Amino acid sequence: MLDEKQELRLKEIMSQMTLEEKIGQLQYSGGSAVGAFEVDVEELINMVYDGRMTKAELMKILSSTEMDYHEEDLRAGRIGSYGGVNDLNLFLRLQKIAVEESRLGIPLFFGYDVVHGHRTVTPIPLGESCAWEIELWERTARMAAEEAASCGIKMTFAPMVDVAKDARWGRIAESAGEDTLLNGAYGAAKVKGFQGKDLSSPDSIASCMKHFAGYGFSEAGRDYNRVDISIQRLYEEIFPAFKACVKAGVSSVMPAFNDINGVPCSVNSWLLTDVLRKEWGFDGLTISDANAIGECVIHGIAADREDAAKQALEAGMDIDMSSNCYAEHLKTLVETKTLNMNALNRAVEDVIRLKLALGLFDDPYQTTAQRQKDTLISPEKRMLAREAAQKSIVLLKNEEKILPLRLDTHLGIAGMLADNRAEMTGTWAMGAEEEDCISLVDACKTQGVKYTFFNDIENILISDCDVFIAAIGESKGESGEAASRSNIDLCEADIKLLKKLIETGKPVIAVLFNGRPLAIGWLKEKVLAILEAWHPGVEAGNAILDILFGKVNPSAKLTTTFPNAAGQCPMYYDHINTGRPSGKSKFSSKYLDVPSEPVYPFGYGLSYTSFAYSNLDVKIRDKELLVSVAVQNTGSCNGDEIVQCYIHDPVGRRVRPVQKLVDFAKISLAPQESRILSFIIPFEKLGYYDQTMQFVIDDGTIKVMAGGSSVDCLCKEIQIKMKLGGNYA
Ligand code: NOJ
Repeated sequence: MLDEKQELRLKEIMSQMTLEEKIGQLQYSGGSAVGAFEVDVEELINMVYDGRMTKAELMKILSSTEMDYHEEDLRAGRIGSYGGVNDLNLFLRLQKIAVEESRLGIPLFFGYDVVHGHRTVTPIPLGESCAWEIELWERTARMAAEEAASCGIKMTFAPMVDVAKDARWGRIAESAGEDTLLNGAYGAAKVKGFQGKDLSSPDSIASCMKHFAGYGFSEAGRDYNRVDISIQRLYEEIFPAFKACVKAGVSSVMPAFNDINGVPCSVNSWLLTDVLRKEWGFDGLTISDANAIGECVIHGIAADREDAAKQALEAGMDIDMSSNCYAEHLKTLVETKTLNMNALNRAVEDVIRLKLALGLFDDPYQTTAQRQKDTLISPEKRMLAREAAQKSIVLLKNEEKILPLRLDTHLGIAGMLADNRAEMTGTWAMGAEEEDCISLVDACKTQGVKYTFFNDIENILISDCDVFIAAIGESKGESGEAASRSNIDLCEADIKLLKKLIETGKPVIAVLFNGRPLAIGWLKEKVLAILEAWHPGVEAGNAILDILFGKVNPSAKLTTTFPNAAGQCPMYYDHINTGRPSGKSKFSSKYLDVPSEPVYPFGYGLSYTSFAYSNLDVKIRDKELLVSVAVQNTGSCNGDEIVQCYIHDPVGRRVRPVQKLVDFAKISLAPQESRILSFIIPFEKLGYYDQTMQFVIDDGTIKVMAGGSSVDCLCKEIQIKMKLGGNYA
């Protein structure tokens, strides 16, 4: 991370620090609220989650004088970083105290959850992942970094690369879906976008990958629940996405709240030291999740807060995010020689190293009010947000080719999400401003679309509407952190609305806004078209109209399976067969009351044109498969197609998934144009871990599949013969 000169500077800084100052660098403070709300920031955030206060009220409190940022502690060198600050003046004030009034003048860094855009909010990660476009993922992260950095933020707690296979889990919204390869590609692109070419540049921010590891496998989809996962699955399905981020140069890691094999990740030395640092060579910073070190006591792994502090630091956790366990206990632990000073020094070095890499010792501010004004939301930025939303919206159904609509179509618009700007941003849009957002109704107004908006469903008239648009789904608070659901059906109000619209006999198009797959089997039967818009960000309304009216041909494909019912969760494409795969026999692996096939499968998404696949060919060259397939645009308009390549190993030393995504590409084709696409699949991608954790590749048959969806592929078999009898080292 640092050159030799910087490493020397690090040593010099370390040599000047007292024990208290060192401990101070490990303290990440959120400040705490005083006055009417004498609780810490975490509790305030909880109040938003459980509905005691709105996000807008929280933002007001956070940026008001009702907050206590513990300035005396800051002056005394007892705070090394802050979170939750998105106010330039506050940032400048706190940084000035650190630099000018603390003994050593060590600058602070400010962290924030810049997850899908900052002020210019882009689609939620689950939505943006449906674009399957690495370059787009990087560009939107770059934009977010520029905006956040202009506000004084130098670290984002993103990307979240938790492979998420359970639609009940609210945080599926923050993931790139259920596939490992996609999460890795998405995560690496985000890291590159956030960090830019040079971390010390004033428009770059450090990226913190999270939540290490296995959080997406929370039992029963309930947030913060236990995770019970085999080590093989960790290595095959969870770790690769984190490794991809490490390879992309990620600066920081946030361990997950959950346990792995009974040891919470925050104090899990196997994860934080053996795997992360020793096995992968990660040399960056680790920062706990909010209050996670303190919660180790409740979790049942630490006797008290002192024990939690000792365990966390010794496991390899550098910064304590707001639990105060380090601040309260590290000094005594060192003085009584209960804690090894080397462990403490290592953690402090990680913090100072990152601050040096961020250029904070040379310029602690890196921004001004003018810079902020010039950077936050602009027409160009809105264009990118619109492009990202267009590329994230999945066309799930289009009967009778009802879409695209003729330009003179009169829309009847209804539904709770049709004219609700604040709901367009989705979860984790802490930097968002409601008035920046464009709802569907706003967009109709500005784009000159003929429409009637019915905000009371009792007043729905057939009037002169040609089609009805039902804007339904979930509010942003129904997905994200602490927003698990045991029922993922449409809500009663949405069903009532849909019935009413269907009764009119006019065509009904559903536009879904949601942060997770919903159980929409009923909807699929009842309406002519379905657009999965997710929570699309500031340009929501514009992007949706672009697709409805065919200005843009939809190209997105699902990165998450849509089950028939929550009872089937987790439901995902890369499952194993079992000895009794679902079939006609009663004694096969299925449910009595719902189909075994998902409502919409992984990799699925329609276009206004059609594509045909042919001539799948697979060859072996050295230790790689050369796959080629011809794709033709067989329709009448230009279109983008996401071509997916999967493999299956039918006989393994451990049973293998029925399909595993190994590569993908997005291509643009004019009508009747065709292209031969090639994928090079290194044998390593066919490998897996056997029972003794040896990485192996099997001799014998491998099935290779290519197509436009996980359930619609050409398939070809090839024989693999490894020289050394199958073992691959
Ligand atoms: C808790 C969340 O789990 C984590 O993802 C987030 O970064 C922190 N809070 C800080 O807001």
